[in-house]
Amino acid sequence: MARPTTLGFAAVDKSIQDAVKLPPGYSYKVIHATGDAIDFNVPGWTNLGIETDDLSRRIGDQHDGIDIFFMTEQGQYTEKDTGRALLVVNHESCAEAAFLMEKGQTTNGQSGKKFHQFGAWDLGVRPELEALKEINLHGVTVTEIRRGQAGWSMVRGSSYNRHITPETESVVTGPEKELADIRSLFVTKRYAKGDLARGTLNNCGSGRTPWGTYLTCEENFYPYFNRTQGAALSGDQAVALKRYGVVTEAPTSGKSKSMGWHTVSGTADDSRFERWNVALTSSSPKGDYRQEANTFGYVVEIDPVRPTSKPAKRVACGRFVHEAAVFGKPVAGNPLAVYMGCDGRNEYIYKFVSKAVWDPKDTGRGMAGGDKYLTEGKLYVAKFNDDGSGEWLELSMKNPKVKNFSKYSFANQADVLVHARLAADAAGGTPMDRPEWGAMNAANGEIYFALTNNSAKNRQPGTTNAANPRAYADPDGKRRSGNPNGHIVRFREDKNLATASTFVWDIFLFGAEETAGDANLSKLTAANSFSSPDGLWFSNKTGICWIQTDDGAMTDQSNCMLLAAIPGKVGDGGKITVRNEMDTKTAEQTSFIGETLGDARLRRFLVAPKGAEVTGICETPDGRAIFVNIQHPGEATKAADMAAGTYQSSWPGNAGYGPNTGRPRSATIVITRDDGGIVGA
Ligand code: FEO
Ligand code: CA
Ligand code: CA
Ligand code: CA
Repeated sequence: MARPTTLGFAAVDKSIQDAVKLPPGYSYKVIHATGDAIDFNVPGWTNLGIETDDLSRRIGDQHDGIDIFFMTEQGQYTEKDTGRALLVVNHESCAEAAFLMEKGQTTNGQSGKKFHQFGAWDLGVRPELEALKEINLHGVTVTEIRRGQAGWSMVRGSSYNRHITPETESVVTGPEKELADIRSLFVTKRYAKGDLARGTLNNCGSGRTPWGTYLTCEENFYPYFNRTQGAALSGDQAVALKRYGVVTEAPTSGKSKSMGWHTVSGTADDSRFERWNVALTSSSPKGDYRQEANTFGYVVEIDPVRPTSKPAKRVACGRFVHEAAVFGKPVAGNPLAVYMGCDGRNEYIYKFVSKAVWDPKDTGRGMAGGDKYLTEGKLYVAKFNDDGSGEWLELSMKNPKVKNFSKYSFANQADVLVHARLAADAAGGTPMDRPEWGAMNAANGEIYFALTNNSAKNRQPGTTNAANPRAYADPDGKRRSGNPNGHIVRFREDKNLATASTFVWDIFLFGAEETAGDANLSKLTAANSFSSPDGLWFSNKTGICWIQTDDGAMTDQSNCMLLAAIPGKVGDGGKITVRNEMDTKTAEQTSFIGETLGDARLRRFLVAPKGAEVTGICETPDGRAIFVNIQHPGEATKAADMAAGTYQSSWPGNAGYGPNTGRPRSATIVITRDDGGIVGA
């Protein structure tokens, strides 16, 4: 099939209904939702929060990154569509854990609460079962799916079904020369050698390696830790923790800095709860969990087709608040590049370049592939220059700016990797408007990054730069200002090489309401206006760039959405002057924008139920089915609403999936065309 040059479906209108809206001629089916049993050892989900198991044999919550791995009947990895596959899904957070308990979460012995933000309450001693449910709804699920008469469905009880939780043992890997130093930073009471670590947490974006494994990326891991005692930390120790948002002193009265998991005294001596307390309670790191927060914030590799394989923390890719990990186009005989965003306001875009050169014969080798390509290599941070060029700055003790950094003294290269954010500050990376997912356009090898948004605190007229050029007020005036609608930047490496030290860039699209005037730089219309791009992914079949949103600025007009775009290439537009106006400040900023796509090449394809974010997408190789994650429907439900039995969303129960108790659930859906055609074309 020639790749389409225009989109082949009718644009979906903005919607604030509690439903998944699709173009005419398309249908969806739920594959799995939060709480579904993955085997027969636990009963089916009641959706009343009355389960007494710890959720570790169920689908987690907050579906996020996703990918599909095909298998032969003998269980071998294959890139052919066999009708039998493993679906791998990240489960990001416990923001809606209250929905999974009969009367909401318990604080100070009182039920009926909903902890939507950390650090706001004195939680008291948390009940063990609630803490276990909250812990185990995180992680990654691997489930077998099969295509039958009624389309794709999950195989409950398959021996491939796994739920990798924050308790699942993982291997700590890194460059051979640095490994001893890295492992010294992982030493805890549980693992005296630091060669292993426990589990994975806040699994947000994902990636797929050229050799056929899954990368899960650990995002906002920091607010889960508390510090119950001891003096406030100072010096480099405090600098390092603060840069990652980890608590540096015991909280003063009345406020808990975490979920309070550390307050549970477990029955077994397994430290499932103690590990969340990073206080110095002994004389050495071997006697407490002061270093436990060092064990999160990585790209973690999982081999779906080998259910007994241990996940591996790939420390060489750096520690930060990881979003997706996207590979550049693999070229046999050349090193591989992995592009990664750190999702925070004014955080950076990074690149890892492997020392090993790509050998396509490694396809299907599982964790041995990661051991080869994701342990030895160089880590860089991106600098976007105002003239449309960019450069990669190495994060290494060999970089004098890193070695001689005034705000923190790096002990060695292991310290640089584990505190990559500080190294990136030192090197002089460009602070971006919240780097979320990246994606690679296989048509030309260009790399795209969604920059979700930024606040007025960080972006004002006069503090913009060419790659983050907007600072304005949301036209409705009630939500936010700064860069409330976000944008998508893209770049092309010099000579398209993974090892390039320079690149050229422009801005593919700016989010905006279509009535936003000067802020609507991409000339969006009612058919394609969007805000806060987050998930990003290119179809291998159609070349369509799929854009997913995680928005709070345009939600007065529409729930979050999925759009399809047919992109050109870096430089197909031109130079622009952005007129920024915010409060009483005005300033101009020059930048570079892609060509205007118009309705034919950019269209809204899906609108999500109320309160949901759309995140995570993958496809079957023939492009006739796409899998999409719907995360946290009903997010705005308050504790008082729950007590009254009313939720902002009741999806997917209200759409006929699972018990319709009024409570919403995150879910994976599969979307197909009723005529069996290729999605989007
Ligand atoms: Fe998981 Fe950056 O959102
Ligand atoms: Ca997000
Ligand atoms: Ca608005
Ligand atoms: Ca979210």
